Amino acid sequence: MAIPFIAIYGMGRFGRALASALDRRKLPLVRVGGRSAAPEGWQTLYARGPEAFLRGLKAGTLVVIAVPDDALPTVARQLADADGLLFAHTSGARGPEAILPLQGGVFHILQSFPPTGGEALIPGSYGAVAGEPGLIATLHELATALEITVIELTEAQRVPYHAAAVLAGNAVVSLLDVGRGILEAAGIPAEHAQRMLIPLARGALQNAQALGAEKALTGPVVRGDVGTIERHLKVLTGANRRAYVSAMLTVADLAERSGRTDPGKLKAIRELLNQKSPA
Ligand SMILES: NC(=O)c1ccc[n+]([C@@H]2O[C@H](COP(=O)([O-])OP(=O)(O)OC[C@H]3O[C@@H](n4cnc5c(N)ncnc54)[C@H](OP(=O)(O)O)[C@@H]3O)[C@@H](O)[C@H]2O)c1
Repeated sequence: MAIPFIAIYGMGRFGRALASALDRRKLPLVRVGGRSAAPEGWQTLYARGPEAFLRGLKAGTLVVIAVPDDALPTVARQLADADGLLFAHTSGARGPEAILPLQGGVFHILQSFPPTGGEALIPGSYGAVAGEPGLIATLHELATALEITVIELTEAQRVPYHAAAVLAGNAVVSLLDVGRGILEAAGIPAEHAQRMLIPLARGALQNAQALGAEKALTGPVVRGDVGTIERHLKVLTGANRRAYVSAMLTVADLAERSGRTDPGKLKAIRELLNQKSPA
């Protein structure tokens, strides 16, 4: 099955990453658009507003709607005047019903896209597709061309899938930022504090990929170093302490599952973490 003509409405982070990935692979991107002025570099293919965007699109064109989740119903109504087009939105948290009255599907990529350059992150990513069988087959073709592994989710799986995605994509970034703040509050120069945890996190991710989480886990919790946790807690206050405690309780659960930690030490660590902050 050939990849259809593709048009993208919504040129934010996702839309630009997808458009650039299609462009680089010489896949048939025929139009991009949205409600605002064309983003830098996309003036030639850009159509502003739903009417201009839809005008002249050939039947069978796949329209990817890449706007914020809450804007999907409004944008779907604005695009509903077209005949013979295929539609898919890009939200991981919503099913095809999010773009009713359009009869469409979902093309989600499990990735965290930066403002520019997001196309480089697409190959090797996972994602999810939904829709009627013919559309799903088309979305599988598109995913294969972009080197994405996509799965089909049941309705009951969709929200858990997205909850897991925000843990991996957003919580990790936020915890790294807490770490940066702790370093800076301790007087470590910002130029180092902003960078020094990233290679560590990258190494931990590589180990998790290669070994699985239980074998990859290192650090004082899994070693059962109760005194080290106690020393950490003595210097942490406020939001930093709350973030540390909640993350380390999760680490303690993983340490327990790994079977590598002495149960008595794990109990002592959990008791320390569950103690009220002295402040
Ligand atoms: N970013 C990611 O990493 C990522 C990953 C996977 C899935 N997604 C999904 O992709 C979708 C878009 O997310 P994003 O991160 O790309 O958002 P974004 O960077 O905020 O971009 C959203 C785009 O939609 C446009 N837009 C907003 N409201 C609109 C409306 N009422 N009518 C027409 N256009 C409108 C915005 O235009 P203006 O510039 O005019 O506001 C902007 O171009 C969401 O469903 C999100 O869940 C995102």
